[in-house]
Amino acid sequence: MSEGVGTQELIEFYFVTGNDQKMEEANAALGQYDIHVSKLEEFQKLEIQSNDLEEIASTALALVLQRTAKPVFVEDSGLFVHELNGFPGPYSSFVYETLGVEGILKLLDSAKSRKAEFRSSVAFGMDGKAVANFSSATEGVIQLQGRGEKGFGFDPIFVPMWTQKTFAEMELKEKTIYSHRSKALSKLALWFLNESKKGIPKESKPQST
Ligand code: IMP
Repeated sequence: MSEGVGTQELIEFYFVTGNDQKMEEANAALGQYDIHVSKLEEFQKLEIQSNDLEEIASTALALVLQRTAKPVFVEDSGLFVHELNGFPGPYSSFVYETLGVEGILKLLDSAKSRKAEFRSSVAFGMDGKAVANFSSATEGVIQLQGRGEKGFGFDPIFVPMWTQKTFAEMELKEKTIYSHRSKALSKLALWFLNESKKGIPKESKPQST
């Protein structure tokens, strides 16, 4: 994109993810800004081991950008439990598959605090170059047991601040109000729409928000 994008123009971003629910959430979040999200089917997200979500997302994006000039993003996220010093954090996906929701509940059996936060980091690039990173977090409380059937991962045990419902009890529209991913993607949308008015510089250095 060399010139500014008019507000009438359909904006399409591409998301590299193997998680269909993340895909739906991305469309709900970016749809608020008239940005449509499609999956880049032929790509797989590479997951490096790191304690830093932004580094994980940026490294995965760098590989994708070697093969496409489309406006594309990668997202990395995790559940950070305060009493467990941030565990499982960047290892959430592995911990979900191995210990599961019940494993986290067991670890918190005699915990004094059940505070936790979900964090999300989105790395965005276009024209084959990394452009910007956007991060956000949602604080909440881990429940004594799971509730709700919707969503994915640790959704049944997490109640964000200011609500009584777990993410798994919320419709997509409601999760979009509170979710870490939705907030990081909103930052991306607002930044993109603002930069588009000016014309996004092709040689911009990746920046973090
Ligand atoms: P990744 O971003 O693909 O590395 O996955 C992060 C892992 O964190 C997921 O597999 C989930 O277990 C967990 N996670 C991240 N975001 C959410 C969410 O919105 N709801 C529930 N679990 C999540």
